[in-house]
Amino acid sequence: MASCSSTKLVVVFAYLVLLTFSDNLVTGESDNVKLNLYYESLCPGCQDFIVHYLVKVFDSDLYTITDVKLVPFGNAKVSKNLTVTCQHGEEECKLNALEACGIRTFTDPKSHYWFIRCVENDTKHWESCVKNYGFEKYIYDCYNGDISKELILEYAKQTMSLKPPHEYVPWVTLNGKPLDDSVQSLDDFVAQICKAYKGKAPLPKLCDSSVLMPKSPKRKVPKLQVSYADKAINN
Ligand SMILES: *[C@@H]1O[C@H](CO)[C@@H](O)[C@H](O)[C@H]1NC(C)=O
Ligand SMILES: *[C@@H]1O[C@H](CO)[C@@H](O)[C@H](O)[C@H]1NC(C)=O
Repeated sequence: MASCSSTKLVVVFAYLVLLTFSDNLVTGESDNVKLNLYYESLCPGCQDFIVHYLVKVFDSDLYTITDVKLVPFGNAKVSKNLTVTCQHGEEECKLNALEACGIRTFTDPKSHYWFIRCVENDTKHWESCVKNYGFEKYIYDCYNGDISKELILEYAKQTMSLKPPHEYVPWVTLNGKPLDDSVQSLDDFVAQICKAYKGKAPLPKLCDSSVLMPKSPKRKVPKLQVSYADKAINN
């Protein structure tokens, strides 16, 4: 009898577990904050954002409540014959393609983030990032082949279908909504992610410190600069 009721218990428990998970299975979504970054590789504000702001998500427990998606296209344009023109010239198109290949190769956001941060921190020496992060052959095959062009056209589509459209880069959306104004400080950025989280898990430790911390008198990170789309392609 004892064994019979414990079997029942196990079944009930398994059923409850299944119910809990099927919630997420049905919608196919997690409760995590969806942070999308629309950017281009050579805009100084984008580099600053990736190196000094976004790093907070990946070097802390903020990562557990945030799903980051990087979209390297920014203010580039696609002509009718599918030629891509980038705001900061050909070099930017090449680095966007490289980073698209990084995203494809290192599928986990945490892995491709560190690769892209390496490139954005020192764009002139991107080759050493490819060497240091491995999968060189995959990256170069993608970069030199048609795959990178297809990836960029897909990112173009995602960028151009933004509602509301992006006004400048870096353009960050949290759960599909543009970040309030532009980010004023690193604390501000972290606080906005914490605020956007509607899931049931306890908030990461970083949320306590950043939301409750009195505003630090000195900013370690300067206010973000942005690049507007209108700033002509030929400068
Ligand atoms: C594509 O169109 C642009 C102008 O829109 C032109 O400058 C370029 O040469 C064309 N490229 C090809 C491969 O036809
Ligand atoms: C960024 O690049 C500089 C060289 O330009 C290097 O000294 C520094 O260690 C790099 N920082 C990171 C976080 O990769």
